[in-house]
Formats: sequence, structure tokens, C-alpha cells
Amino acid sequence: MTSRSSETPSSPDALLAELRARREAIVQGGGAARVEAQHAKGKLTARERLQRLLDEGSFVEVDGYVTHRHSDFGMDRERHPGDSVVTGFGKIAGRRVCVYAQDFTVLGGSFSEAQGQKVAKLMDLALDAGVPVIGLNDSVGARIQEGVYSLAAYAELFWRNTQASGIVPQISVMLGPCAGGSVYSPGLTDFVIMTKGTSHMFITGPEVIKTVTHETVDLETLGGAMTHSAVSGVAHFVADDEGQALAVTRRLLSYLPGNNAEPPPAVPPADSPWRMDPELDQLVPLDPSQAYDMQAVIARIFDRDSWLEVHTHFAPNALTGFARLHGQVVGVVAQQPLILAGVIDIDASDKIARFIRFCDAFNIPLVTLVDSPGFMPGVAQEHGGIIRHGAKIVYAYSEATVPKLAVITRKAYGGAYIVMSSKYIRTDLVFAWPTAEIAVMGAEGAVSILYGKDLKKMAAGGEAERARLEAEFREKFGRPYHAAASGHVDDILAPSETRPRLIAALELLRDKQTTRRPRKHGNIPL
Ligand code: HXC
Repeated sequence: MTSRSSETPSSPDALLAELRARREAIVQGGGAARVEAQHAKGKLTARERLQRLLDEGSFVEVDGYVTHRHSDFGMDRERHPGDSVVTGFGKIAGRRVCVYAQDFTVLGGSFSEAQGQKVAKLMDLALDAGVPVIGLNDSVGARIQEGVYSLAAYAELFWRNTQASGIVPQISVMLGPCAGGSVYSPGLTDFVIMTKGTSHMFITGPEVIKTVTHETVDLETLGGAMTHSAVSGVAHFVADDEGQALAVTRRLLSYLPGNNAEPPPAVPPADSPWRMDPELDQLVPLDPSQAYDMQAVIARIFDRDSWLEVHTHFAPNALTGFARLHGQVVGVVAQQPLILAGVIDIDASDKIARFIRFCDAFNIPLVTLVDSPGFMPGVAQEHGGIIRHGAKIVYAYSEATVPKLAVITRKAYGGAYIVMSSKYIRTDLVFAWPTAEIAVMGAEGAVSILYGKDLKKMAAGGEAERARLEAEFREKFGRPYHAAASGHVDDILAPSETRPRLIAALELLRDKQTTRRPRKHGNIPL
């Protein structure tokens, strides 16, 4: 029999007491002083965040005993069980998730070899289990003391983010700094949620920028929540505080399947499938130059209170988000005629295309509400690559195999008609409202191009003839019956009928199957 050392507990009770003591050490993180400093910054600790995010008592920690193996630069004195991240799994509204929370109280949550290994192990577990991965990010970035070990661990994380893409949903909740190349992990995930005031993301900070480009910028303007949600588009959601960021995360998850082989989670319908809101019939002004609010259309068609807008502040001329129809999750893409008349610009293209691809990867049917005069004109847009960016929309719709439905509420001009889920990029059913105008362009522009020279030669600039031609043009292309007569749209709906008709169409397409030619992958114009 092997003899035990004097430190080895000699009874079952002593063994359990040791286990309790070791567990107690794990939850201490970087110690009381650093916890206090974290609270003083208005931030919760990693464990407090997990407690708020997950269903009560559901968190199961893994790798709480892992420590780093480095000793240079004072690292011997900074060895904490669990190192700088808490990893494990739990439940949100009864559904399984894997989650990691960077612990800022341990060396600023710096990304170490040990943190990398813990997160990698968790992601492998999530992929095998087929559950979403949520990262609660609060870190100073690469652990300087570990040099290449830290950088290699980051590379390993980015590789895993890429492998998991399209297989399990990945959500990044930003609750502190995220600097340098470390931003590429959230950047690779499906959704980024930022917290106002306390979360900042940037490749290089204000000091480096001042040295290199001589620009002066504060942290919030450079990489705060509003900057990334309204300007760069990096963030999909912005929260006023940590509590709201975690609440948004829970709500977002209620629309997402656990993995790409599951349907999205349906809820018992609380709203009648036959509800026909008569206000919809009055909503679109007959004068095409008058705007209306597409949010009001969405609110009246989809299940009550089911709309969760994604990318609210970015490219608001386009709308993307999740909603429900008779309890089933759908992805909604629309124009917002209130902003820039719903024109499609570079940012709107990126916003729409990325959302479509997420929905397609995760079996979420798409419903598109079309009202766009076309692509944004201008030198800045052309030089910024609107050809390349706009092409993403047509590519994303064309490759999407989930059920696709479209409703043309008013303008579907030129390229906008084609790219916004038109029949021939394989939209299953395209409906139009009586207000729909499907044309290469508006009546005024069309008549000027076709007859402008002749009209100028006429008396009074040919005003009467111009008006007659425009009216003729509007009659043919400014109303949807011509398109319906040739099958370019499948039916004309009274706006109030839209809800029951979309529900019926979705039910029909529930088991939709398509085949694709085998290929490694396509080459979307990025
Ligand atoms: C190890 C670090 C650290 C680092 C800070 N700390 N940065 N430890 N590696 N990179 C330690 C601090 O010494 C401190 O330890 C604790 O973390 C908290 O840091 P504070 O500065 O006290 O926090 P705060 O005042 O909130 O300031 C946060 C901060 C600042 C603004 C983020 O720490 C900062 O500017 N850090 C450097 C950020 C950075 O440049 N990171 C590298 C990015 S490049 P104590 O013992 O006092 O608690 C990168 C490359 C990734 O990440 C490449 C991937 C491909």
C-alpha cells in the first residue's frame, strides 16, 4: 500500500473539506481588492454576469482548476485557479448553452495560453453538443508576459470561431475593453452586443492613433457602443448597461436554434393567424414621393410584440430582424422608406446580406418587404464599391435555400427589384400590394430618357405630352397587374390579407427541399 503524505487528507470528510476549500479558491478570482476595483468601474464580475445570464442554479463550471504554466515576469505570484476565464455550460430559458466569461480580476482577463485552451475545449464541447456559444468579453487583450503562447492561443480561438460558423450560433457580449487583434474573435461571431460606456473595441487605441496618423480621438468616439452600432456596423445590439446586455442576449437566443440541424424554436401562437389589420390598407400613401414607416407595417403583419430588430442603428434605410408568424421564427428584411426613401447603399447591402446568410445557415425562413427606389447614386458610393457590396445581396438571396417570401409594398425599381428577393433569384412566392410599382425606374425618369429630346422640341416643352406619357407609363409599370399577368409576381394582396397569406405560405414550405451542385464553396463578393 502506498503511504500518504502528511498533507493528504486521511478521511472522506477531510477529502470533502479539501474539495470545498479548493472550490472556494476558484471563485475568488483575482481577490477581493480587484473585485472591488471591478465594481468601482461599474462592472460586474465574471461570475456575477454568469449568474444573471443563466437560469438560476444551472451553471456547471469546467476547468476551474486550470492554471497557467509560466514563471517569468512575476507570473509565479499570479497563479489563480481557473486563470483569467470562467468556462462552463448552463441553460437559458431551459435551453442549453456553453458560455465563457473573461475574468478581469485576474490579470485584466488577459488572454493567456490557459484561457485559450479553456475556451477551445468549451467550443469543442459546444460543437459536439450542438449548442450556442456565448462569450462574455472583458479583457485587456493578449497576456504580454506569455508572448507567442498568448498569440498562438488567439489564433486557435479564431480558427475555432471560423469552424463553428454556420454550425452553432456564436454570440459575443462586450462588457469591457477588447483591444488589438483580439477584436477578431467577436468580429467572427454572429452577433456582437455592446454596452454603452464600459465596452470598447479597437485595433489600435487613441495613443497609437495619435502617434501614427496625428488624429485625436477619445475612447468612446473611437470604439464605443454607439460608434460600432451606428457607424462601423461591428455591433448588432447596443445596451445601456450590463443588465440590459445580458437581457438582450437571452431574448436573441429565444429566436435561434441550438445548431444548424435544428429548426428555430417555435412558441405557442398567442396571436390569431387570421388577424387582418385594416389600418394596413391605408398605410402606404398613393403619392410615391410620400414616405411611411415600415416599422408600422412590420408591427401589423407579424405576431404581436415579436419583432426583435438587429442592427437598429446601422444603415437604418434597411431593416433586419427576427419576428414570429403564428409562433414560428422568421427573419425579416425590409426597406425603411422614412430614411433615404429606402435606397440601398453600401452599408445597407452589407447589413442585409449578412443577415440573410445567418438566417439561411440556421434554417430561419426569410420574409422580405420591398420598397426601394434602387441603389444609392454618387461618386462616394461608386468608389466605395457599391457594385461589390450590392452584389452581396443578390448572392446571399440566390444561395439561400430556406423558404423565401417577398411582399412588394411599393417601389421595386431596377436593381432593387432584382436583388430584393425577386422571383428569379428563387424566391418561393412573391406577393405585391396594389400600391406596388415594378419598373426599371420611376415614370418621370423613364419618360425623360425615352422621350426627353422630342419633348423639348415641342411647344411649351411638351408638358401635356409628357404628362400623358408619364400617366401611360404609370398605368403599365406603376401598378402591379402587368407583372402579375406575366407571372413575375404570384399574387396581388390587399395589405390586410398579408398576415394570413404569409402564414399559409410558410406552412406550405415547412419541409422545403432543394438541391445544389457540389462545390467547395462559392465566392461571395466580400
Ligand atoms: C497582462 C495586463 C495587460 C496585458 C493590463 N494588464 N494589460 N496584463 N497583459 N496586456 C493588467 C494590469 O497590469 C492590471 O493588473 C490589470 O491587467 C488591469 O489593467 P488596468 O490597466 O489596471 O485596467 P484599466 O485601468 O481598466 O485599463 C484597461 C486598459 C489598459 C485600458 C485595457 O489595461 C490597457 O490599455 N491595457 C493594454 C491593452 C493592450 O494594448 N493590450 C494588448 C492589445 S494587442 P493588476 O495586477 O493591477 O490587476 C493584442 C494582440 C492580440 O491583444 C493579437 C491577436 C491576434
